Amino acid sequence: MPKRPRRLRANQNIRSLVKETVLTGDDFIYPLFVVEGEGVKKEISSLPGCYHLSLDMLHDEIEELCSLGIRAVLLFGIPDQKDKIGSGAFAEDGIVQKAVRCIKKMNKDILVVTDVCLCEYTSHGHCGRIKNGDVDNDSTLDLIAQTALSHVQAGADMVAPSDMMDGRVAAIRKILDKNKFTNTAIMAYSAKYASAFYGPFREAASSTPQFGDRKTYQMDPANKLEALKEVELDIEEGADIVMVKPALSYLDIINEVKRGCKIPVAAYNVSGEYAMLKAAAKMGWLDEKKAALEMLTSIKRAGADMIITYYAKDVARWMKEDGMYAI
Ligand code: PBG
Repeated sequence: MPKRPRRLRANQNIRSLVKETVLTGDDFIYPLFVVEGEGVKKEISSLPGCYHLSLDMLHDEIEELCSLGIRAVLLFGIPDQKDKIGSGAFAEDGIVQKAVRCIKKMNKDILVVTDVCLCEYTSHGHCGRIKNGDVDNDSTLDLIAQTALSHVQAGADMVAPSDMMDGRVAAIRKILDKNKFTNTAIMAYSAKYASAFYGPFREAASSTPQFGDRKTYQMDPANKLEALKEVELDIEEGADIVMVKPALSYLDIINEVKRGCKIPVAAYNVSGEYAMLKAAAKMGWLDEKKAALEMLTSIKRAGADMIITYYAKDVARWMKEDGMYAI
């Protein structure tokens, strides 16, 4: 008797019944770029549909996210001033610290996660302190820990270190615990690859390294074992959630990490992945909605428990229009 898997694909009702992966608004974390100034809502050219927002414009943005059912944001700050050690990253009145206070004052039920890194704040654009022409690991740890603490003191619900220094999760856990923030979670960018797909983000955040590249701290795209080692170390050091970044070219890594660890896995659907689809859609080469939903579904199917994506708002809107079975 021939086998007939097509029976379970005969119509939408049966397909919905056997669907293994369904995206929901609960899966998404939406990145926000906050800038100094007033009345700024400027579309980011490399990330169409995403904006640089000044503090006074955050209110409407957060309202919109809440009305779309998006429950979490990831904050990035773009300061006016930069210096060698990125002191704006841990300043009490730094842009992210102010944005966190501002969002928390709105009293909206939204989770505020902050990206903890120095690259937007350093004049050289690297993620740590420079010594002898390279990013020095151990003298960067204190700056990263201070940055995380200042975000949490401002009210952040969770911190997400993206610098890739060895030992930073332990340093952050230690300083948070010492300051009685024992309940604040760490989402570690554990397997963060040295990827060309961060290009549009670096334009948005003006964080392109002024010399060299990030290959001495971010991972080699060719490696898998190294990702598993990084994840293991971060968990040992106290990470509550581990992340794989980027997502699309690293679905195998997401899958292995998910199968190999007992804590939630996040995936970062990065700027280049978003920009590729936006550009192709603009040219009329792809059906944007179908392609975006397929992309995000594949990331979830691979094993991501949550997805950081610039598409969060678009997808939430499509879901409102079409219901759950958008794809
Ligand atoms: C900061 C940071 C980067 C991204 C997130 N945090 C850039 C980088 O490492 O160069 C990239 C996000 C994206 O491309 O969407 N270290």
